[in-house]
Amino acid sequence: MARAPQNTPSRRRAPRRREGRWRQEVERVLITEDQIARRIQVLAREIEHDFRGREMVVVSLLNGTVMFLADLIRHLNLPLRLDFMGVSSYGLGTQSGELIFTKELRLDVRGRDVLLVDDILDTGKTMSRVLPKIQALKPRRLKICVMLDKPSRRTEKIEADYVGFKIPDYFVVGYGLDFAERYRNLPFVGVLHPLAYKQSRQPAGPK
Ligand code: PRP
Repeated sequence: MARAPQNTPSRRRAPRRREGRWRQEVERVLITEDQIARRIQVLAREIEHDFRGREMVVVSLLNGTVMFLADLIRHLNLPLRLDFMGVSSYGLGTQSGELIFTKELRLDVRGRDVLLVDDILDTGKTMSRVLPKIQALKPRRLKICVMLDKPSRRTEKIEADYVGFKIPDYFVVGYGLDFAERYRNLPFVGVLHPLAYKQSRQPAGPK
């Protein structure tokens, strides 16, 4: 069998990232991987400072928070326990709909310092339902951390204690955020091209 020649230009070249179908569907990158990584380190230091000296419980809302959560907690140099709450409001489309709880907490948070983590604070409807549910469990302290905040969309009186990025009212996907369950795996936050949701058979229109 013929051997491929060593040290040819193609062997020396760095592996190229595969470009997916999202190239046509994502209009532009809004927040890069690097920007996210740097911001998370700063957030983690702030949270460490505020929660130091006590074991915290991180409560993460499924599913969109998966990437942010993984990156945030690996930078938290604190003893912590992790639990998830399943909550879904949008079904497969983009319009805010009925809120459904799909998973309850397993850990007892009574008397604990709780950090509630979500990917995006949009209208605030999700948080306004989740917060009283957790408050009823009598934590010692409850703080909210979100990667993205869209203040212009807010209809509820809710603010987060820790915010990665404040963004305008763009329809964003990636880094955990979906449209019709797609794009969650993109390593950056991008603006979805209107054609991508207009062509979809799901109910359409920016959130
Ligand atoms: C998204 C997101 C937030 C919520 C924010 O959840 O993860 O939880 O919407 O919107 P709001 O402030 O208008 O309530 P979604 O129900 O889409 O589920 P997902 O996390 O599985 O994507």
